[in-house]
Amino acid sequence: MRLDRFLANLPQYNRQQVRLLLAQRRVRVDGQAVDDPRCEVRVFSHVQVDGQVLQTGEPARYLMLHKPAGCVSATRDPEHTTVLDLLPPALREGLHIAGRLDYNTTGLLLLTNDGQWSRRLTQPRTKQPKTYLVHTEDEIGTHYVARFREGFHFAFEDLTTLPAQLDILGPREARLVIVEGRYHQVKRMFGQFDNKVVALHREQMGAIRLDPGLAPGAYRELDATEIASV
Ligand code: URA
Repeated sequence: MRLDRFLANLPQYNRQQVRLLLAQRRVRVDGQAVDDPRCEVRVFSHVQVDGQVLQTGEPARYLMLHKPAGCVSATRDPEHTTVLDLLPPALREGLHIAGRLDYNTTGLLLLTNDGQWSRRLTQPRTKQPKTYLVHTEDEIGTHYVARFREGFHFAFEDLTTLPAQLDILGPREARLVIVEGRYHQVKRMFGQFDNKVVALHREQMGAIRLDPGLAPGAYRELDATEIASV
């Protein structure tokens, strides 16, 4: 919400007082004096006027988890272990997954309570690269590379995938960088060649790499640089 609306919604200020408070730079958002009425106030923002706290701000949380195979990317599931079950109960509250992985896919999974942050990371229009290590049942031909670059038509959504970069690492192994996260996207791309993906591991999202120190099932908080990179 805009700062001027946030302040005017409070019982103690009318619009004219809000304009004055801003003009006199008496409002601080996250410690910074602000005079721009359009400054965005979020549930995470700390807001004060003349040193009096109007909103303390919820802590924003950002975690990376090394997702093991055999658990679902959901916050709840009646049958299977979920990725949230791998976190201590006190940490789970309010978290959602920024870019799901399939049941048997392993690797980097990001969890947060910050919806804007996760949208910036996952929406195709922001073109944040996601890097996967792929193992396939059959050999990966050199002709795949151009096809991945050109894009595949996905009939169900009636869309053509954005250019993807495929680096062939071995007869049945490749590294793939895509900028979208369509449903089963990597498996469906290889499916266009009738080549089954037998193992899939996400190494990186945007500038955030899976920490090599994290064993499958382990997690850590993101550092400030990782959070700011999105
Ligand atoms: N593409 C897939 O097919 N599966 C995943 O888990 C991630 C990307």
